[in-house]
Amino acid sequence: MPQDIYDKIMMLAKRRGYIYPSFEIYGGVAGFYDYGPLGSQLKNNVENLWRSFFLLKDNCIEINTPTITLHDVLKASGHVEEFTDLTVDCEKCKRSYKVEDIINDNISVEQALRKDKIKCPTCGKKLKDAHPVNLMFSTTIGAGEGRAAFLRPETAQGIFTNFHLLYRYNRERLPFGVIQIGKGYRNEISPRQGMLRLREFSMAEAEVFFDPEDKKHHNFDSVKDKELFLFDNEKEFKISLEEAVDKKIINNQALAYYMYLTQDFLLSAGVDSKKFRFRKHGSGELAHYATECWDTELYSMRFGWIECVGIADRSAYDLNAHIDSTNVDMYAMKKFDEPKVVKVKKIVPKMNVMGPFFKDKAGKIKDLLEKIDVKDTKKISVEVDGEIIEIPENCYEIVETKEKMMGEKFVPHVIEPSFGIDRVVYFLLEHNYAEIKKKGEEYRILKLTPQMAPIKVGVFPLIGDKKLVDIAKDIDKNLRNAGVETYYDDGGTIGRRYARMDEIGTPFCITVDHDTLEDNTVTVRDRDTTQQERMKLGQLVSYFQKRLEF
Ligand code: GLY
Repeated sequence: MPQDIYDKIMMLAKRRGYIYPSFEIYGGVAGFYDYGPLGSQLKNNVENLWRSFFLLKDNCIEINTPTITLHDVLKASGHVEEFTDLTVDCEKCKRSYKVEDIINDNISVEQALRKDKIKCPTCGKKLKDAHPVNLMFSTTIGAGEGRAAFLRPETAQGIFTNFHLLYRYNRERLPFGVIQIGKGYRNEISPRQGMLRLREFSMAEAEVFFDPEDKKHHNFDSVKDKELFLFDNEKEFKISLEEAVDKKIINNQALAYYMYLTQDFLLSAGVDSKKFRFRKHGSGELAHYATECWDTELYSMRFGWIECVGIADRSAYDLNAHIDSTNVDMYAMKKFDEPKVVKVKKIVPKMNVMGPFFKDKAGKIKDLLEKIDVKDTKKISVEVDGEIIEIPENCYEIVETKEKMMGEKFVPHVIEPSFGIDRVVYFLLEHNYAEIKKKGEEYRILKLTPQMAPIKVGVFPLIGDKKLVDIAKDIDKNLRNAGVETYYDDGGTIGRRYARMDEIGTPFCITVDHDTLEDNTVTVRDRDTTQQERMKLGQLVSYFQKRLEF
């Protein structure tokens, strides 16, 4: 079978230390890959560039939270019920499939569900009825009964559950964004897209909190005339951010701004602009928490258009869920220009009745009752340790008082750009892979940008002469001390050494030759033009720092 680009890239990636299949000596497992030395560095470069967009340009703050997440958190967030894939199992061979993966273009899900319309893709036998399967890996914290938990399906919940602390950290001002880079986990039913469908993967997420009545971004004006590459399920077209928001193609400025930031980041990283687009989710595709979502799709020659980033408007869904579940005050405050005096109804618990009635729960119930915003006085209930308790009327009094209000509370809305970092890494390899023939042989070049390339400069002595070797090793050391990643190589012909560097995406190579001994100059070769220029030894550090945008 002729190799397609995916096979070629994965072979190169394995041979040259970018990506290895995990647990290969034990037969491997679908959905897991290791990063080798070059892959780890490329991934770091992607994450650091991402940070420069979201931490620096956008002024977000960064946090880190555990990858193991309490069941209660993911129950509240809706993941326990909703984070599922519709799945079918084979009666005979017992294999399981995600329905979406095995229905073909001409058959609807409803038709596919009629069992006899579609057979097991492996053994051809009957499939059982479809059923939803939760995609989270479950675990237990501690021994014995322990506490139920999951490996997190997204980093976002770690941010939402800290909202009240982060809001205070941000001196109670909106909008502000919080980022987190880390592992996420999905126990995919039967992943068949190699590097593009992982069970353990790296995510980079930003949760940006807004006043729902003011979903604007202070940088919007500086980018409003830039063009976004959109796809409306029929055609691709370019449109300015301002026009897209005015025409309500994109719902608000904040969403459009984060789409642009995403586009700018991916194109700066080296994604091919001709293989890039945003596609809006249809209502049937939206995640349970989203009111609007745009996917950034990148084109793969094997897999077609693949989602790499989801930019969702999560509204107040998650904060409301955690408020309902914990009663923790996760509101933001909108200050009035002038204080207002308003009538409020308050619950005053009667502890002399509640104490004997609710015993050890009375204190907790009192605290909860005092926080209730009384609108409807028909029934008052509170949730204590997962139990809804209705409070008899003789346990409290409702009193109307006047209060001076400095502002009003509201639940912020969230815009979330969520990146699959491993997919970005893969697409940088695919979109920058080139093949030419040299002297009848296949010659591979990875045209990674200097910022993304794991090794920035190859350093070679022309021959093994000690004088040349010493100078080359000195250059190598000086560049490393100045923060430039190098690879020293004195093996084989210069042509072979260039080829090894081209294949891993190294943008520059320095060769120390006999002229160096005469005039203190070396050649600097540019990977993409293959042009060489002579440069003084003393200029090298500042030249590369400039070319690499330090
Ligand atoms: N946080 C977005 C996602 O899980 O896809």
